[in-house]
Amino acid sequence: MSIPVIAIDGPSASGKGTIAAIVAQRLGFHYLDSGAIYRVTAYAALKQKIDLADEPALVELAGRLDLRFDGAEVYLDGRPVGDAIRTEEAGRAASTIAVLPRLREALLARQRAFRQAPGLAADGRDMGTVVFPDARVKVFLTASAEERANRRYKQLIEKGLSANLSRILQDLQERDARDAARTAAPMQHAPDAVLIDTTGMTIAAVVQRVFDLFSQAQGKT
Ligand code: DC
Repeated sequence: MSIPVIAIDGPSASGKGTIAAIVAQRLGFHYLDSGAIYRVTAYAALKQKIDLADEPALVELAGRLDLRFDGAEVYLDGRPVGDAIRTEEAGRAASTIAVLPRLREALLARQRAFRQAPGLAADGRDMGTVVFPDARVKVFLTASAEERANRRYKQLIEKGLSANLSRILQDLQERDARDAARTAAPMQHAPDAVLIDTTGMTIAAVVQRVFDLFSQAQGKT
């Protein structure tokens, strides 16, 4: 039987990272934050002054990225870059390079390598559609743009980073539009993914819903 994957897709700040990490921890599964891979790639490109539209150069960069995940921390060339890649600027840059199909292809193997026993919870935009189309459970998480902007604002403030709520809302809406409109692996609610609107829901309630879906799916195999 294949190693089970729980694919959690959705727009920026929909809570998918938080939910996927908790689900992974409770089940003893591995966790993939695929957005971090796009963010680190964009961050490395900016540092190396690579144009964010230069697909061949970005593909080459993706091939030689020295990237390591350790718990919640991300290391680039052995240095922690967790905070640097969480800025809105890094998110925008990640979304900009994420439209490039050959770059997405170059990052596929890195993402699939996270699928290890006993299982994987993965979050992103195309986990259930492209990276793990045979995922045991597919969820598409969403929430109103205002609620998502509020959550992102609180996250940034808690980390001691500067934040501006109306700017965040505008950035988020622009990013959603770009992520959904691109032709390569666009963010979408796939027909086989269960839609969960988390507006007004607690984290615990969303986690429970994902667990229920996973138990049901396990019962079927
Ligand atoms: O989930 P996030 O906000 O960290 O993702 C940052 C950007 O990376 C997002 O706006 C689009 C891109 N991305 C993607 O195209 N596919 C994924 N599976 C994950 C992220």
